[in-house]
Amino acid sequence: MLDNRQVSFSGVQPSGNLTIGNYLGAIKNFPYYTENYKCFYCVVDEHAITVRQIPAELRRRTYETLALYIACGLDPEKNTLYVQSHVPAHAELAWILNCFSMFGELSRMTQFKDKSAKHADNINAGLFTYPVLMAADILLYQADVVPVGVDQKQHVELTRDIADRFNQLYPGTFTVPQPIISTSGAKIMSLQEPDKKMSKSDPNENAVVRILDDRDTVIRKFRRAVTDSDSEIRVSEDKPGVSNLITILSCVTGKTHDEIEREFDGQGYAEFKAAVGEACADMLAPVQERYKELLADRGYLESVMKKGAEEAAYYARKTLSKVRRKLGFVSL
Ligand code: TRP
Repeated sequence: MLDNRQVSFSGVQPSGNLTIGNYLGAIKNFPYYTENYKCFYCVVDEHAITVRQIPAELRRRTYETLALYIACGLDPEKNTLYVQSHVPAHAELAWILNCFSMFGELSRMTQFKDKSAKHADNINAGLFTYPVLMAADILLYQADVVPVGVDQKQHVELTRDIADRFNQLYPGTFTVPQPIISTSGAKIMSLQEPDKKMSKSDPNENAVVRILDDRDTVIRKFRRAVTDSDSEIRVSEDKPGVSNLITILSCVTGKTHDEIEREFDGQGYAEFKAAVGEACADMLAPVQERYKELLADRGYLESVMKKGAEEAAYYARKTLSKVRRKLGFVSL
């Protein structure tokens, strides 16, 4: 616990491709965390290099990711926003934790199995120990909670196992963190295959609306959204496309499903889809404007990175010196 608040740690991949699913499902909840926890948000460039990167693009996306999160409402004055490789303690603790992580448990990680199938020509050791670096991220800040998507739950559970194992040998070293799987945020589905979750890596661009899509693109994607053959605008299990659009409109406007059904009673899908597109584009416009301003000001973004890295390093150093002492490393 820091300054009497619990600690929340989140790692975000340096990719500017976030969707309205990420926005409505998770990012919109950030102010809640800021109010209730001491929050660390870390752009994980060291995790990114477990698959091959083009250097100029990784650098650009690191700036873009920071700018996007700030534009979405993360206040750098109230949260610690920083870049992983700016705080060497992450890599240092990761090495130590490697010696407390088992080959068998790492082999069972489903993300490792998926990624090694996808990148069969580059199954490097970093891909294998990816979750150990993630454990180091979390444990360095003695995080109490880790808000993640369900795909990362297994990694947080591994982090708990590593922390327990370490604490068994060296009592009182790490806080054992809890994963928080966002269920409060809405689950937004693909616009083309509405029984699948909207995914930022969907190869079909018409299936995903991105936070940075321009107005015409947003409206066009909604116009092409899959619905069904009748024409009723109501939430129903056998109408996944229409239900998804109602959920999106409800999240964007704050209206209930009932209110939306009544408002569009008797109207056709074309009008309804146009209305969802307009509302969504209106929601994104101020975020995009702020994003552009921020991205044009690298000096400001670098000052945020610098301040964030200094703050993070302060807390990281405390944990790392405790760990070094417990392990028996000589300190000078
Ligand atoms: N692995 C996470 C993802 O792909 C990103 C991440 C890295 C992370 N370190 C973390 C998330 C620590 C939560 C806590 O989304």
